[in-house]
Amino acid sequence: MKSLIDIQELSTAEIDKLIEIANDIILNPSKYSEKCKGKKLATLFYEPSTRTRLSFEAAMYELGGNVLGFASSDNSSASKGESVADTVRVVSDYVDIIAIRHPKEGAPLVASMHSLVPIINAGDGGHNHPTQTLADLLTIKREKGTFDNLTIGMCGDLKFGRTVHSLIGAMSRYQNVKFVLISPEELKIPSYIKQEILDEKNIDYVETRSLEEAIPDLDILYMTRVQRERFFNEDDYLRLKDTYILNEKKIIKAKSDLSILHPLPRVNEIAVEIDNDPRACYFKQTLNGKYIRMALILKLLGVE
Ligand code: CP
Repeated sequence: MKSLIDIQELSTAEIDKLIEIANDIILNPSKYSEKCKGKKLATLFYEPSTRTRLSFEAAMYELGGNVLGFASSDNSSASKGESVADTVRVVSDYVDIIAIRHPKEGAPLVASMHSLVPIINAGDGGHNHPTQTLADLLTIKREKGTFDNLTIGMCGDLKFGRTVHSLIGAMSRYQNVKFVLISPEELKIPSYIKQEILDEKNIDYVETRSLEEAIPDLDILYMTRVQRERFFNEDDYLRLKDTYILNEKKIIKAKSDLSILHPLPRVNEIAVEIDNDPRACYFKQTLNGKYIRMALILKLLGVE
């Protein structure tokens, strides 16, 4: 039994295979419509979600399987004090695979130690979000045709943004990738990401506060929301939340083939006037999330 807790657990060949299957699902959805007949997915979400939970559920239904679970810890026995370990041990008797989101870093790893079935990390605190990264990778591959030779701007909350941490980890394995890390001082990328990934792999990166100065060089601009739920102090959030707002004026100097990504939800950081720009990829990204999660469910269940 294999789980997916961190994107780094997947080899480059495994990522390529998942992307190949997701692309085949997009072309031939009916071929996959009964692949998980008789199988059940549990979605155990201790933290709010729209895309991740519903795309996991849609993914399982489109594979012919069934879904059960909870969308809030208030609706589960966690509200009575039950541990993640006990909850997962019990639920793993009822289902074939579990996707879990939790505000505490490491909770999905703990879950994987107590589960009888594969666990998928659907986001743990400010740590990791591997299936969002798979959706990002599928989107980059479909938009750019390659992962190599790309200059990637990561903009916004690089401190708490778990999707940023996972995507840097995943993209650092490809050739001649450069990162431009755009954030206010208070929301800079954690030093462990710099030391354990960027420095360790000798990746070219710069840190800057200025989106305007960075934008002309970028092939991909990955915007992120300031993660209100991870702040200890509301005043700090209010001061930082609108540091970056991407609008038509700001992308005048961008490349004509820039791809604008955002894991969503967005608050103010991308003006709605950008939505109709052909470079906006964030709604394609959410749809890609469903297809790549279908591919991942097939892989972890060992379905050919
Ligand atoms: N991108 C993402 O994780 O969105 P949700 O919080 O809506 O699942």
